Amino acid sequence: MAQKIIILDFGSQTTQLIGRRVREMNTFCEILPYNKFPENDPDVIGVILSGSPYSVHDPDSFRIDFDKIRGRYPILGICYGAQLTTHVFGGKVESTHAHEYGRANLTAVDHTCPIFEGVEVGSQVWMSHGDSITQLGEGFRAVGSTADVQFAAFQHESEPFFGVQFHPEVFHSLDGRRMLENFVIKVCGSRQDWSADSFIESTVAELRQQLGDDRVILGLSGGVDSSVAAVLLHRAIGRNLTCIFVDHGMLRKNEFHNVIRDYEALGLNIIGVDASAKFFAELSGVEEPEAKRKIIGKGFIDVFDAEAQKITDAKWLAQGTIYPDCIESLNITGKVIKSHHNVGGLPEKMNLRLCEPLRWLFKDEVRGVGRALGMPEHLISRHPFPGPGLAVRILGDITPEKVQILQEADDIFIEGLRNWTTEVNGREVSLYDQTWQAGVILLPVRSVGVMGDERTYERAVALRAVTSTDAMTADWAHLPYEFLAKVSNEIINKVKGINRVCYDISSKPPSTIEWE
Ligand code: XMP
Repeated sequence: MAQKIIILDFGSQTTQLIGRRVREMNTFCEILPYNKFPENDPDVIGVILSGSPYSVHDPDSFRIDFDKIRGRYPILGICYGAQLTTHVFGGKVESTHAHEYGRANLTAVDHTCPIFEGVEVGSQVWMSHGDSITQLGEGFRAVGSTADVQFAAFQHESEPFFGVQFHPEVFHSLDGRRMLENFVIKVCGSRQDWSADSFIESTVAELRQQLGDDRVILGLSGGVDSSVAAVLLHRAIGRNLTCIFVDHGMLRKNEFHNVIRDYEALGLNIIGVDASAKFFAELSGVEEPEAKRKIIGKGFIDVFDAEAQKITDAKWLAQGTIYPDCIESLNITGKVIKSHHNVGGLPEKMNLRLCEPLRWLFKDEVRGVGRALGMPEHLISRHPFPGPGLAVRILGDITPEKVQILQEADDIFIEGLRNWTTEVNGREVSLYDQTWQAGVILLPVRSVGVMGDERTYERAVALRAVTSTDAMTADWAHLPYEFLAKVSNEIINKVKGINRVCYDISSKPPSTIEWE
């Protein structure tokens, strides 16, 4: 069985980052709410306690039963995790009034502590806490300090039990990765055998066992997650998997045919349904963004359901749900635990059992699995695309003519991004691969222009391209002016109906990536 690290979540914004760091060490981990430690799981090799927005002195702060973990597993407390440890085991955590926030440097490091192997005095760490430890718990000793924080790191005299008040998981803790590696590999003894290949091997075996000869249906969106889920399932159960791809008419230029061609080349059993007429009819005259989304969401379910009914012996619905969608998150205000909810409400309606083979993977791991499955790179490194498609990039009402104009402009922009490369770390990389996501927005305004001797009165579009790592925050991409000039010229010259191009220079927050 796979070894795993358990990360108990006390509600910190960086808990997922701890998980990603552990996975980057080829070690499996699970992020669980602080009060859901899995008892009697033989695969657990260590426990990490996360940070929290709470102070240990808040009456509502999260507590755990240390008896379940202490003495059984190596433990690393991070920030609140370290302060809780101190508070519970006889030390003192006090409000310092001066919040310690930002960069600091280790002024003293005890190299007999395994966490600091290879970490030098002066190493930069990232602090973010209001309280501070003023006296260590019983049996603990200091192993690292900064100028302002005497007990920046501590360890138990005789147990593999550690605490750090800084955040090793964030980028600004420059040796943080090494410290976490020291814990996971040296202290917990990870064999580092979690990899895309080992995931595929064990998941294919599990899927065969779970599904037997049952028929499975899966809704493809053309995106990375559903595609990798499909190819993985196909490897496990072959033709017993039927994929359904619904064209709601709001896809990119030629996307419906390209996607079907790509999947057929991978050997998938795929049904393409052109339902664009239904969607255009239902969306006619609708301007409000949420109303558009609802119409498309419901329409999609109806079309998918009707198609799936034809596969009368199907028992399972597969989805490309990934780990960030499944992590139970702590609602700090109400202490409510939010659980994973199924996207789109399909399974409830269809009376099928749910199969989610990627539910343990982060996005970058999904891509790694796709590559290990031999999928073509253009499917794996595709930009995200919203479910309602171009409908939320046409501001105002939607008509087939507007969709067609936008498809043409979008195609010029995206192809341009693919074909324009710049040097990054000594390597030529396309602008497409340097951006998280890009697209064109059709604006509900017309403006005056001049073409030849003719006055024009046509539509304006905005180009949108962002850099991001998770779509939670994003910056507008600083695309070269020469590139923007070329794309603008090409769009205005080639796409009839557009005479003005703008570039969106808003970041998220406060804007969003999509305009609707
Ligand atoms: P925003 O606009 O909220 O978008 O910054 C964040 C990310 O989510 C995508 N997005 C959607 N994806 N259905 C989807 O499947 C939707 O309704 C939807 N709305 C936004 C967006 O493209 C970006 O990647």
